[in-house]
Amino acid sequence: MPVFGRYQQDFLKGRRFGTRSRDLKPWMLALLILFILTVMAVTIGLLVHFLDSGEKTEYYHGSFKISHLQINSHSRQNNTYQLKDLREISENLVDNVFADSTLQEHYIKNQVIRLTPEEDGVKADVIMVFQFPSDEQRMIIQKKIHSILNQKIRNTRALSINASSLQVNAMSSSTGKLTIHACCGKRNVPLIVNRIMSGDLAAKAAWPWQASLQSNNIHQCGATLISNTWLVTAAHCFKYNANPRQWTVSFGTTINPPLMKRNVKRIIVHERYHSPAKEYDIAVVQFSPRVTFTDDIRRVCLPEVSASFQPNSTVYITGFGALYSGGDSQNELREARLQLISDDVCKQPHVYGSDIKFGMFCAGYLEGIYDACRGDSGGPLVIKDLKDTWYLIGIVSWGDNCGQKNKPGVYTKVTYFRKWIASKTGL
Ligand code: ARG
Repeated sequence: MPVFGRYQQDFLKGRRFGTRSRDLKPWMLALLILFILTVMAVTIGLLVHFLDSGEKTEYYHGSFKISHLQINSHSRQNNTYQLKDLREISENLVDNVFADSTLQEHYIKNQVIRLTPEEDGVKADVIMVFQFPSDEQRMIIQKKIHSILNQKIRNTRALSINASSLQVNAMSSSTGKLTIHACCGKRNVPLIVNRIMSGDLAAKAAWPWQASLQSNNIHQCGATLISNTWLVTAAHCFKYNANPRQWTVSFGTTINPPLMKRNVKRIIVHERYHSPAKEYDIAVVQFSPRVTFTDDIRRVCLPEVSASFQPNSTVYITGFGALYSGGDSQNELREARLQLISDDVCKQPHVYGSDIKFGMFCAGYLEGIYDACRGDSGGPLVIKDLKDTWYLIGIVSWGDNCGQKNKPGVYTKVTYFRKWIASKTGL
């Protein structure tokens, strides 16, 4: 019975199929093939369109002057802005200009790369990113961008912009990309965990933001690269000599030979730093010509004002400083791993008591040993986030000798001076 059943089913199936194919007329078959081909063609067309739209990303540099305003770190008064706000307002403005313009389909984004305080205003430098079919003429686009900006920025309410100051120039895509993607706090070597005082030699390119500040070619202090032309360091480095012409800055993991050397152009010491007081121990230094970032020379990121860091977090210090109290500075860069120490711990009477003021924090170990020392001053204390991006959170400032029990290193708190840095450098 089962055998017969199967035979009968197979037989019936065969017959059914036979009947069907015989019913399918040639024109139906042709139509079916045509339909399948059309679907395939449309799919491929769409894929090609979306995967390779033949569009090229182009970068244009614009600059204009925003008048009747001042940049201030305390933005209470009318017409005073904080740099970060001004950057945001300017970027929104440029977004809006292109959002309902004839270039709206091509406009991608903009980034304010610089805000430079000028007399009665601020000069804004913006990079604008567009996508165009590759056969588009750049000169014509450049003129179009100029005319759209020119028409629209003079009518904005948010800011008073001097339209005659407007300039637009095409940038090469490599420069545009470099500028937009000149990311901070990234390094190109794996983290080799080593342990300045009692620290270990640093690997090449491990701390590409480290700089050595030298007066008359003698290493005096560390410093940290925060842009291609600005460094952050300690104010006390310039206690005896604040003449920029006598200072140079070098990069790389050795002082001799240096990887690169630059002349210092400007030294801005915090206006409220008054030695021997240790508060406001911060300065920014501008050098020239600017550096091009490489694996070995790069900037660190600056934290937001609001950033806070947990006690006991792991941080790193680096420097060319002495290996013991009274020792000499070193030719080779060293690093040490430290822990953040809470104010509660550091303000204990047997540690530093009331010497720890606002804008300072402690790091290291109460047991001593690992510490910064003379010559490390002004150098970086950095922390790494979950995405392996490094932030400058401290500046080597002071300490009671080096590596002593209950006398950890004391650092200038960068978040506390974040707005001051921005007000001086635009960063
Ligand atoms: N003030 C010293 C200098 O000029 C460095 C201070 C760091 N001292 C310390 N124990 N953490 O280089």
